[in-house]
Amino acid sequence: MKILLNKIDLNEALFGVSNLGFVPTMGSLHEGHISLIKYSKKICKKTIVSIFVNPTQFNNKTDYKKYPRNKEKDLSILKKLKVDFVFLPNKNDIYNFKQKIKIAKKDQILCAKYRKGHFEGVIDIMSRFTKMINPKMIFMGEKDFQQLYLVRNYLKKKFSSKIISCKTIRDNHNLALSSRNSLLKDNELKTARLISKNLNNFRKILNKKKNIEKLIHLKKKEIDSFKNVKVEYLEIRNKYNLKKSTNIKNSKIFIAYYIRNIRLIDNF
Ligand code: PAF
Repeated sequence: MKILLNKIDLNEALFGVSNLGFVPTMGSLHEGHISLIKYSKKICKKTIVSIFVNPTQFNNKTDYKKYPRNKEKDLSILKKLKVDFVFLPNKNDIYNFKQKIKIAKKDQILCAKYRKGHFEGVIDIMSRFTKMINPKMIFMGEKDFQQLYLVRNYLKKKFSSKIISCKTIRDNHNLALSSRNSLLKDNELKTARLISKNLNNFRKILNKKKNIEKLIHLKKKEIDSFKNVKVEYLEIRNKYNLKKSTNIKNSKIFIAYYIRNIRLIDNF
């Protein structure tokens, strides 16, 4: 496994490498990342994983500071997985030219509405990485569904790299794996699992129901009443264009909520 610390290392290591799979991460690796890496290793000749906690996608300084970081543990996981390259850039290597990203008004929904500047930061970094690394495929998880949707739509206009979307990995209690889960206390983890189970069952019953908007409204109120929980949004949207939907067919339930000050998102 080659550790690449800057752009020079990167260019040297990737010279002549084609059929490259790229897994972008902010570290604190869990089974969700591991499944992306395994898939990349399966279908690409070489795999590169980046670890970079991207400051520009945090709309809140404390959130950035508190974001979990576990570099040594991450590197030992990647070594065991026999990843070919790990890219650990610093800010100066990445942000060495200006670029302005704008999110269309129609896309200022869900997390884009509540985390001002977040997706501009994500798209910016993903476009810089794609330009530097030029992978054949980029592997991203469906847990961050809106991220996947926006990044894919942006990159496809500028690059030939293909985004491969991968199913959300969940724990035994149906909670989507996320680096932020490690910030939850035991009782908060229980609450998050309860919310996941609740919404998973809710989705099943919606297949047979008519007045979906009212049911969503009530569900939001119910989850909001859980101890220490504040729901930011709970919405049904079409999974192909993210337009509001009143029908569960071809749609997904999207949620963002806080437990204490920890923000979690999921879709069902
Ligand atoms: O999903 C993440 O971990 C980040 O948003 C990403 C895609 C690595 C960009 O910083």
